[in-house]
Amino acid sequence: MKKIILGISGSLRKESYSTKLLKAFGELAPDDVDFRIADISRFPVFNQDDEMPEPDFLVKFKEMLKPVHGVLFVTPEHNRSFPAALKNVLDWVSRPQVPAGTGSWAGKVAGIAGITPYTLGAVSAVMHLRQVIMFLNMPVLQQPEFYLTFAENKFDRDGKLVDENTKEHIRKFWKEYLALVDKINS
Ligand SMILES: Cc1cc2nc3c(=O)[nH]c(=O)nc-3n(C[C@H](O)[C@H](O)[C@H](O)COP(=O)(O)O)c2cc1C
Repeated sequence: MKKIILGISGSLRKESYSTKLLKAFGELAPDDVDFRIADISRFPVFNQDDEMPEPDFLVKFKEMLKPVHGVLFVTPEHNRSFPAALKNVLDWVSRPQVPAGTGSWAGKVAGIAGITPYTLGAVSAVMHLRQVIMFLNMPVLQQPEFYLTFAENKFDRDGKLVDENTKEHIRKFWKEYLALVDKINS
């Protein structure tokens, strides 16, 4: 059975390194993966006044999420956390969630990769994201971790990943991630 994996980039920026890395994950995905990339650029800022009745964009996103086995997050770091745009989507889609852990994210197996042009690999963003998805009841791959530093050296002018070590790490990540997806869904 094909595993449906939804990729979400934490950055809305046109030339985003995170989105480039997410696309590289898609290109290096094994054949048994149906890899889709979510567009989160049209989510308005969450306001609890607007959640009922559910707006169309949210109904559509939740419908799209239903058959998904896993969600692969690639996130940059904003002030030592993951970006507000990503939190916004997690919040919108999490509702309603009574009791805790029963919302639309529940059971989707998460993989997380951090990326930065600087040092430290967006590790604080990844840790914060782990904390949030724990509450959303998403099982998450523990190892291998994925922290990419000095992003500007890893892609060519067309935005293609050219760094062989990173490609190798992506392959390793896919192997362990998909094993977890299988385990959870069996
Ligand atoms: C508001 C803001 C805060 C940032 N804070 C951090 C940070 O805490 N750690 C870090 O490594 N980079 C930080 N950066 C730099 C980002 O890593 C850099 O802009 C990166 O290219 C953003 O990811 P993207 O290329 O996927 O858009 C910050 C950038 C912005 C705009």
